[in-house]
Amino acid sequence: MALLEVNDLKVHYPIRGGVFGRVQNYVKAVDGVSFKIEEGETLGLVGESGSGKSTTGKAIIGLADITAGNILYDGKNITKYVGKNHSEYRRGVQMIFQDSYSSLNPKKRVLDIIAEPLRNFEKSTPLEEKKRIDELLDIVGLPPEAALKYPHEFSGGQRQRIGIARAMALKPRLIIADEPVSALDLSVQAQVLNFMKEIQEQFNLAYLFISHDLGVVKHMCKNIVIMNKGRFVEKGSKESIYNDPRHIYTKRLIAAIPNIDPDQREESQKFRDRVTEDYSNKYNDYYDKNNHVYDLKKISDDHFVALP
Ligand SMILES: Nc1ncnc2c1ncn2[C@@H]1O[C@H](COP(=O)(O)OP(=O)(O)OP(=O)(O)O)[C@@H](O)[C@H]1O
Ligand SMILES: [Mg+2]
Repeated sequence: MALLEVNDLKVHYPIRGGVFGRVQNYVKAVDGVSFKIEEGETLGLVGESGSGKSTTGKAIIGLADITAGNILYDGKNITKYVGKNHSEYRRGVQMIFQDSYSSLNPKKRVLDIIAEPLRNFEKSTPLEEKKRIDELLDIVGLPPEAALKYPHEFSGGQRQRIGIARAMALKPRLIIADEPVSALDLSVQAQVLNFMKEIQEQFNLAYLFISHDLGVVKHMCKNIVIMNKGRFVEKGSKESIYNDPRHIYTKRLIAAIPNIDPDQREESQKFRDRVTEDYSNKYNDYYDKNNHVYDLKKISDDHFVALP
């Protein structure tokens, strides 16, 4: 049984207009996506800006209203509890964000930032709380003195660790990581990614790892879904997505990964040119007449593609 199962999730935002502010249309930010995340595993959710990645994550955690679909946690349908104080789910699923600067309250000390979920959910004594905070700082590789400082006193990579410490406070089983390293320098990105993998093994954590960059998720994920226009265009094991991409949109994302190997540069350039050409010539083979993404079709046991 999967830890998290999402079935036909839709999030439609109303667009209001006119003098009376009536609903005139909807932005279909997420329009029917289904996926599973197994205990201790990482699912990569990849797509360009505006494809609906963050909205998918937010809907799971209750920060965006679910229009349709359902969510199973440990096999139990908890859809109506999402965003409510259904404590088992609220504790078990946490989210970290790209912009740690705005997601961490700048007026609060690290101590209070990390302690907030503990104070909301656990009645611990000040001594127990202090012990847990030291533990959490240690898990994310920060010294105990960090507790008394403010977010602006840290580097971007360190701030991301503070966000992770807070997310870890309630011993979650799944962390939704929304572009967790996109704002960081390349060298710091690698550090944070490695560290996320370490705590994953240590605590048997599952991740929904959101990124616009297929290069970044490559070393993080067992399975990957590719999102476009609020739908999935391709879904499968890491190997099938990288070695045998079938949808033109996936190919375009793969072509965009910079190739640092000089021997393969010419090859990559050829692939890029071919994909660009296909994207303009064969676009209509991949989207229906209303420019919608088709339903996923099974290609093999671990590979699904949205084709007519
Ligand atoms: N609260 C909202 N109200 C109305 N429309 C919204 C809202 N939040 C997001 N949208 C729209 O939904 C679509 C998907 O947005 P979302 O933030 O999920 O994309 P994303 O894939 O995370 O993009 P990015 O890579 O830029 O973060 C966009 O068209 C966006 O404008
Ligand atoms: Mg986003």
